[in-house]
Order: sequence, then structure tokens, then C-alpha cells
Amino acid sequence: MSQTSRKIVLGVTGSIAACKSVELARLLAGAGHDLRVIQTDAARRFVGEAALGAVSGHPVAGRLFDNTSEPVFAHIELARADLLLVAPATANTIAKMAAGMADNLLLATYLAAECPVVVCPAMNHHMWHHPAVKQNVKLLMQRGVTIIPPDAGELACGETGDGRLPEPEAIFCRIQQLLGEEIVGDLAGLRVLVTAGGTREPIDAVRFISNKSSGKMGFAIAEAACMRGAAVTLIAANCSLPRRAGIRYVDVSTAAELRAALEADVDACDVLIMAAAVSDYMVSGKQTMGKLERKSKINLQLVETGDIVSSLERNNTSGLKVGFAAEYGGDKLERARRKLRRKQLDMIVFNDISRSDIGFESDDNEITILTGDGKDVHVGKTSKAECAHRILDLVAAKGRGQG
Ligand code: C5P
Repeated sequence: MSQTSRKIVLGVTGSIAACKSVELARLLAGAGHDLRVIQTDAARRFVGEAALGAVSGHPVAGRLFDNTSEPVFAHIELARADLLLVAPATANTIAKMAAGMADNLLLATYLAAECPVVVCPAMNHHMWHHPAVKQNVKLLMQRGVTIIPPDAGELACGETGDGRLPEPEAIFCRIQQLLGEEIVGDLAGLRVLVTAGGTREPIDAVRFISNKSSGKMGFAIAEAACMRGAAVTLIAANCSLPRRAGIRYVDVSTAAELRAALEADVDACDVLIMAAAVSDYMVSGKQTMGKLERKSKINLQLVETGDIVSSLERNNTSGLKVGFAAEYGGDKLERARRKLRRKQLDMIVFNDISRSDIGFESDDNEITILTGDGKDVHVGKTSKAECAHRILDLVAAKGRGQG
């Protein structure tokens, strides 16, 4: 994948996320880089030296004064790298880096290194938001260290918040970008704009009209496109899903905000994938910003939000447009086909929302991709990640003029 082999030192510290470092090491070594791994003592409790040694192709470096396996100047030798990556980085290692301590091989290597340094913190969300950790991270950033912030989601401790180590593919993509490497994927060079989630139309300050979309399908598409080398922007309507390094996120809530965000970005994209479930109606007039009092009857007048994808003002008319059709009841595939034409899309992804085992809020989906040329592609029930790749296979083929 990589054009040039670089010397990369991967420092693994004692977080439960250390188990992800094997996959990260495999990606970096697989891209042709000369990879050396340093483990702290605490990291050895979470991930085996044998696994990291095997994927990196070199014995794992361990202790400062371990003369049997490493020369006394191991840290100086290791510091002559093109990039030092610490992933996962615990609060403890971050604090020691900020303080300039050197009581293990990784810290001594960091102090001796003149190359770019990238740190991927991973810890409990309360720890991540502790003022001491924040200050240490800020200090490292001021000294030129690149921080890849943790993702939000369920943490190993069972709590939910930000603190998860980003997925290895996302860290790998970011490292390749930092090294100036072209990420050679079949979507490299394409700018992909994805919408995800469900918009909310306020009734008052606390109530709204919305739908069951979780955003999982759109997030899966954005992540898959990023892995395949695209520059990805994701417009997220009310999604509380983990975020990945390497993707640009724009948060919106209402259909009007989603339209404005799209209008701002659409001319700079080559592919637009509208996976968001946009509310078709909003409450007419100005909403009371307080809380409506309970009455025996309330009349809400609803007006159409207007179809965004078909009325989007865009100057860049060469781009591909992919829509979604979530359909219910008889004649559903035909209705999706009519939508493809009416909305002037290049592709529409149909899914059957009468089934409860797929679609909204589920991790799985079953889709039929209609391309308007009669060559429908059916993808049987599988993960949303796999569905995303099948949609992108067609996007890549159309981009090459084969679709
Ligand atoms: O007509 P329907 O809502 O089924 O169309 C779905 C497709 O149209 C999706 O791609 C959705 O993102 C888009 N859409 C839109 N503006 C709306 C409603 C849906 O762009 N107001």
C-alpha cells in the first residue's frame, strides 16, 4: 500500500486497548514500514510480546537496561525513527511525557526523538476529562505532538463516553496522511460527502418530530470510504455513535440545518451519499421556545420540509448522487425505482423497513442497490459495514466509468 518504507516506532502502553495494537502493527508493517515496537511493563499484561513481535517482524523492545536483548543505547537507536506513535497512550504515560520523565524505554525514546510524535490516548472518559490529563495533553500539543483524540462509545469499563482508542484502520490512515503517503485505495482522490441519522423538527424547546434512524448505515459508509482512501465529510443528524479519526464531522439537528450544511459542502464533493432520514414535515410558524402546556387537544400544523436531495443547488454537476429508500408494504421495490428517477439519482439503496431484524437501529441490513440500468445488486442480510463496502464497490466502478 505504501510507496516508501519509513522507520516507525510504535509504543504500546498499559490500557485494555493495547489488544488493538496487534492489528495496528499488522497494518503498519503490511504497508511496508520498518516497524519497531516498544512495550511498557503494564502493556505486557494486556498484549503478548510474541504477537507484536511476529506482526512487526522484529523482537519487541522492552526495558531500558535489558542488556541481554538490547544495547544500552537502545533508546537512541530507536529515536532515529521517521515517526514515533504511542497507541494506546495511558494517562500515566501522557503525564510522564509532559513531565519529561524517562523511567522506561518508551519515555527515554520519546525524549531523544526528533521525529514527529503521534499520541493516541485511551482511557475511561472521566480520566480523559480530568483537568490534569487535559493540561498534559495541551502541553504535548503545544510542544508539537499530534494527538489523535479518542472515539466516543462504550468503554471497556462498561461506561459510555469518549475514551476509546480509534479503530486501527483509522489510526493507520491518519499516520499514512501524516507521513505524506498516498493512501492507495480504490476511492483515493475522491471527496465523499455522507449524511447520516434522523433530523429533528422542534415542536417546543423539549419536544420534536423525528424518526428511528440511528445513523449506523451512514457512519458505516463514511468509515468504509475513509478506509478505501476517500476524503470523507459526514453530516451527522443527531447521532451518538463512536467517531473515527480521519473523518470530518459536521453536526446538525433539523432538516433546514442539514440542507445548509449540504449546500456549504456539496460543490466540493465528488460523491454525495444521502443516508440520512430527513423529516418530511416540520411544525409551521415560529415555535414556542418554552414547554407547551398540556391541554386536552393541541393542533399542530405541519408543513413540508421539501426534498433536499432533488432540489440541492449545486454547481458541481459531475458528481455522483446516491440516495436511500426505506420502503414498507407492497410494491416497495417499484416505489424505490420511481424515487431513483424522480430524485435524479445515480443509485438508490432500497431496504425493507417492514422487517424488524434489519434496518433502523440494527447492526445489520439487507439491501438492493438500484442503478437505473437494470443491473440491480442484491446484498443479503449482513453487517452494515459489509453493505457499505458493496455500495462503495459500485461507486468506485461508476467513478471509473464502468457502472
Ligand atoms: O422520499 P424519501 O424520504 O423516501 O427519500 C429518501 C431519500 O431522499 C434519502 O436519500 C433521503 O436522504 C432523501 N431525502 C431528502 N429530503 C427529504 C427527505 C428525504 O433529501 N426531505
